[in-house]
Amino acid sequence: MVDQQMFDITPIQENDQEWFAKLLVERWDSPKVVSRGQLHHADQLPGFVAWSQDKPVGVITYHTVGIQCEIVTINSLHERKGIGRKLIEAIISAARTIGCERIWLTTTNDNIPALVFYQKIGFRLAALHIDAINSSRNLKPEIPDIGYGGIPIRDEIELEYWLN
Ligand SMILES: CC(C)(COP(=O)(O)OP(=O)(O)OC[C@H]1O[C@@H](n2cnc3c(N)ncnc32)[C@H](O)[C@@H]1OP(=O)(O)O)[C@@H](O)C(=O)NCCC(=O)NCCS
Repeated sequence: MVDQQMFDITPIQENDQEWFAKLLVERWDSPKVVSRGQLHHADQLPGFVAWSQDKPVGVITYHTVGIQCEIVTINSLHERKGIGRKLIEAIISAARTIGCERIWLTTTNDNIPALVFYQKIGFRLAALHIDAINSSRNLKPEIPDIGYGGIPIRDEIELEYWLN
């Protein structure tokens, strides 16, 4: 049982990498993530883990370039209990410290729950990249053809959150 709001947030440590890589394989077929044509090895990125009673209940990773901070992965292991929001708050705080001005991410056209979540916590739609997933599959062939609700996975939707 995970209590709402009762999470500790810590930076990802080296010894988190093994379970995190396993989680990425279970949920996303591989630790590889492709966004805007770039391949990331998400298990090697910086990020934060949410803990409840010494067990990981969520994890987020990011990648910064200049003033831009990209959220590369976010996974909540107990949904709708505030874990995702806490992880995003950790990224916002880290991004401010680093001097980033824009937090952004992409999700796929089928991922309706993620689109609801991001917009609920303040992200805005920024761009639609039609058929972007076709080229992502060159870098990560494991991306399935069909996603949430039986929707074909085709496009990237970019969302953003400006810090100032
Ligand atoms: C998207 C995800 C990270 C959200 O995490 P979460 O822990 O469920 O999010 P929270 O509980 O912090 O929710 C924050 C707000 O979004 C809302 N929300 C989250 N998921 C929602 C959904 N599917 N439908 C409607 N509202 C939703 C919550 O109700 C909450 O709003 P409130 O504060 O007004 O109650 C989680 O669903 C997940 O891990 N999904 C699978 C991985 C994934 O798709 N990641 C994104 C890839 S781009």
